[in-house]
Amino acid sequence: MSFPKLCDASGNPVTYLRLSVTDRCNLRCFYCVPEEGICQSTQEELLRTEEIIRLLQIAHLCGVNKVRLTGGEPLARRGIGRMVREIGKIGFRDIAMTTNGVLLHKFAPLLREAGLHRINLSLDSLRPDRFHTITGRDYYDAVIKGLAAARSVGLTPIKMNAVIVRGVNDDEICDFVQMSAEQDDIEVRFIEYMPIGVGQGYRDEKLVSVAEMLGRVKERYIVEALTPDDPGAPARMYRVVGGKGKFGFISPMTQHFCNDCNRLRITSDGKIKTCLFSREEYDLLPWLRGKYGDREIADYLCQSVARKASEIDDKYSSSRNMTRIGG
Ligand code: GTP
Ligand code: 5AD
Ligand code: SF4
Repeated sequence: MSFPKLCDASGNPVTYLRLSVTDRCNLRCFYCVPEEGICQSTQEELLRTEEIIRLLQIAHLCGVNKVRLTGGEPLARRGIGRMVREIGKIGFRDIAMTTNGVLLHKFAPLLREAGLHRINLSLDSLRPDRFHTITGRDYYDAVIKGLAAARSVGLTPIKMNAVIVRGVNDDEICDFVQMSAEQDDIEVRFIEYMPIGVGQGYRDEKLVSVAEMLGRVKERYIVEALTPDDPGAPARMYRVVGGKGKFGFISPMTQHFCNDCNRLRITSDGKIKTCLFSREEYDLLPWLRGKYGDREIADYLCQSVARKASEIDDKYSSSRNMTRIGG
């Protein structure tokens, strides 16, 4: 049986699936988790492992070649090792995970052995006290231990994501750049703070634009821009001249990268989201739990993705919490 290929409204292939496997998290980042806590889905509302595997098999047949597991915190999901092992059998070119690293020291060898290729680590500060202020938890040392464990088992190159918020951690930009210059298996990427979920009310005062961040780096370092390996990648990468590793910027707010976007998101409760900012969601649960064949589910997936516009409609529109979308 031949399967249709996933394409957006302009006919561009959609080949990268970001799947949130849980809305639970062991951190409480102030920009992500509301004061009242995360309203967790019930077990019944979450995609089950068998449903995830079936969905990924179908997505693979529809042209997806890269999968990223996100959360919440993906390592907080029970049975994540088994899930990775099953995903490893499907045949994706790239299987990655975005994690906060808290549990990584326990999981790194298992994940590697189960077939995970690499991780991206979310870390917004290199100072333990500030890490605590941002995340509400005292796990800085655990994350650093996790980072070391990931490197030692070869879950590399590791991309370290730091969301930069004015007045919170914007004074650490050069510390992160210095770290990238000293290590060749870590890429640091600075992310513009997005008004999503809890951050929704902030508008622009806490945003540090990529132009401003780069300006600050250039005051201290001589840098060179690098040619992207993958034109669909959201980050623009640089290197400190004479340095070992790379650093770069993800600028969802000030520079659109939507034209080259090849991504599709699926939330932990089984909703298709064709853009991080879109209000539109398409529910997969009735399809996965009903009496539908793989080909019918593939058609629904393709029809939903075909409505993906190539421009963001409104960056201030998504009311969803990041813990369900997974970044
Ligand atoms: P690689 O495969 O390693 O390039 O990973 P990635 O950059 O696609 O994934 P990662 O989870 O590390 O993404 C980092 C962050 O960039 C996300 O958490 C988002 O905050 C942001 N980001 C990634 N893709 C998009 C996108 O399509 N739209 C927007 N607005 N932000 C994105
Ligand atoms: N703006 C930018 N990035 C965010 N993330 C979560 N919330 C926001 C936001 N409002 C990032 C995390 C992590 C990824 C999963 O999403 O820091 O890197
Ligand atoms: Fe922080 Fe990510 Fe957890 Fe949100 S999901 S609280 S950004 S670690």
